[in-house]
Amino acid sequence: MEKELKGKVAFVSGGTKGIGKAIALGLAEKGAHVVVNYFRSRSTANETVKEIESYGVEAYAHRANMGNHDQIPAIFEGIKERFGKLDILISNAALGLFTNMLEIDDKSWDLSMHTNARAFLNSVQLASDIMPDHSRIITLSSLGSIRYIPGYASIGVSKAAIENMVKYMAVELAERKITVNCVSGGFIDTNAMKSFPNYEMMVQEVVKRTPFKRMGTAKEVGDVVCFLAGPKATWVTGQTIIVDGGYTLM
Ligand SMILES: NC(=O)c1ccc[n+]([C@@H]2O[C@H](COP(=O)([O-])OP(=O)(O)OC[C@H]3O[C@@H](n4cnc5c(N)ncnc54)[C@H](OP(=O)(O)O)[C@@H]3O)[C@@H](O)[C@H]2O)c1
Repeated sequence: MEKELKGKVAFVSGGTKGIGKAIALGLAEKGAHVVVNYFRSRSTANETVKEIESYGVEAYAHRANMGNHDQIPAIFEGIKERFGKLDILISNAALGLFTNMLEIDDKSWDLSMHTNARAFLNSVQLASDIMPDHSRIITLSSLGSIRYIPGYASIGVSKAAIENMVKYMAVELAERKITVNCVSGGFIDTNAMKSFPNYEMMVQEVVKRTPFKRMGTAKEVGDVVCFLAGPKATWVTGQTIIVDGGYTLM
């Protein structure tokens, strides 16, 4: 049976670790060629590329700081040169400093707004020129966009901006039948989570409050993203889908 994303070309920002890597592997398993972006760890990026290629698809890693808009055009120029098009854009990379709302300074505001929100905007603006009709755009958010998470203010605000951008983009790209969606993960056990100052306590609290009594995995978020990237998700656009094992119900 032919793989459902055979011949498609995907880009995943921050696609070398955690949720981004799970998405990249999920897309490759379905037959897509995948370009992953990373910023700091070249060796991890190289390992991820090998794992992607093991599915029999093409892959390469592009180093760029998504928070620096001067570095973003080269990503899509490279994809155009190698593949001539981009079918699936995944804006996943994120960074932020831990701070409460009233203590946000320009540095922490700019870091999360630029790396998370502006990078998504810039990527869509640049990539849409090489995206055929019926392409897919998916971005990542977190529960801090709609709820209070101590110390998460600057990141939460940037994620709220992303969720709103998804709605505007969905309407503006509908003419080309391009869908734009967001997947908002609950607490997923990745390296990013481990950088939280109160990590151990948070894990206990999350497990206690989650109906399934466990943390989520990167693959469980990646699988939802891959569904939205696939041919069966034609009628979903402008949405933020929460993937949290029921955490927000409690
Ligand atoms: N983990 C969670 O609980 C959770 C929950 C909800 C939503 N999310 C969202 O899911 C996404 C992925 O999170 P994660 O937990 O998987 O993170 P992660 O494990 O820390 O992985 C982050 C990835 O992004 C890359 N990256 C970081 N800063 C970058 C930059 N400035 N430019 C380009 N690449 C950069 C990293 O590569 P290098 O290290 O090589 O730079 C890595 O590949 C984020 O948008 C996050 O907000 C996570």
